[in-house]
Amino acid sequence: MNIFHVELKKTVDNSYDIEAGFSLEQNLISDIRSGLTGNIHKFAVITDSIVKDLYAEKITAMLKNAGYSADLFVFEAGEKNKTRRTKEAIEDAMLAKEFRRDCCIIAVGGGVVTDLAGFIAGTYGRGVPFINYATTLLAAADASVGGKTAVDTPLATNLIGLFYQPKKVYLDLAAWKTLPPRQVSSGLAETIKHACLASREFFDYLDTHMDDIQAFEKTACEHIAQENCRIKYTVVMQDERENSLREILNLGHTVGRAIETVSEYRLLHGEALAIGLAAEAALACHLGYMGSAEQDEMLCLLKKAHLPVAIPSYIDREALVQKLYTDKKVKNGKLRFVIQQGIGKIAEYEKGVYAIPVEEATARRIIMDMPVL
Ligand code: GLY
Repeated sequence: MNIFHVELKKTVDNSYDIEAGFSLEQNLISDIRSGLTGNIHKFAVITDSIVKDLYAEKITAMLKNAGYSADLFVFEAGEKNKTRRTKEAIEDAMLAKEFRRDCCIIAVGGGVVTDLAGFIAGTYGRGVPFINYATTLLAAADASVGGKTAVDTPLATNLIGLFYQPKKVYLDLAAWKTLPPRQVSSGLAETIKHACLASREFFDYLDTHMDDIQAFEKTACEHIAQENCRIKYTVVMQDERENSLREILNLGHTVGRAIETVSEYRLLHGEALAIGLAAEAALACHLGYMGSAEQDEMLCLLKKAHLPVAIPSYIDREALVQKLYTDKKVKNGKLRFVIQQGIGKIAEYEKGVYAIPVEEATARRIIMDMPVL
């Protein structure tokens, strides 16, 4: 039998800019005019039922006024709608409106919108360009940056998706003021996670400036947007596909993602993450990587951000232990956790390996010992 060798080595440049600032709609239009998306004239603006009135309709109208073809695609807000079914519905609506490969998708909204729209962009016509216009602190801190796109399934969050990088990300800090307090806190959980894994200095800043942040003071908002990007991208630029180092961005997420699913999305992502950070800090203490004074500092900061650090009474803790096995870090059937070494550093298990195997009995004990909310 003949063997045909298919030589497909390639060098890819997926570099892009993240622009943080206040009310960036006009910057988006100017960038498109200046060639951000090449010669594309057809735009699909994807948003949810909340952000539609606040930002997405305006951006769609501005695109049309600038001479582009633009259609708005809206789905019902909420993590429980970040599904294959919603993806299919939007794709079918785009097909009906004659969107083909010569289009660009603009995601306008929070993490649910940017995850879903980015996944659509990665598979529509085998891949069309997309732009994220992030309107929440959670999207700015994590979801809209880094190129992870996905939908949830009944089994767990983000199991089906792609690494697919946007052409540009806009972080509209003015939009944070429009968020309900629970959503602000949710975004702060990802921010606190970044401080815990990479920067004692940033942790202290958050502790000192929590009131300024919650009052949306300009310099404080700019600083946290900047630090979130710096910390996340220091990691992502070294390991885009999460082969090793990027696992550290999973801090708090082994328990966090599991409890988010078990709660059937009654907990927002950041609330679930805060409980996960608290549980995993208890695990770090148990394993000797963290002292109880540092654990207390963490719990205090999470509480200052109005985040939960205990497990709601409606959560079935045994179901939560079993749900830990849906985590992507599980290897050969063994649970693996990213563990904090004090505040501002992650423990390295072996050279280049950051997720540490933990016996189920240990994980169960930590979860069973968590206080009740
Ligand atoms: N949210 C974790 C990551 O982007 O890797």
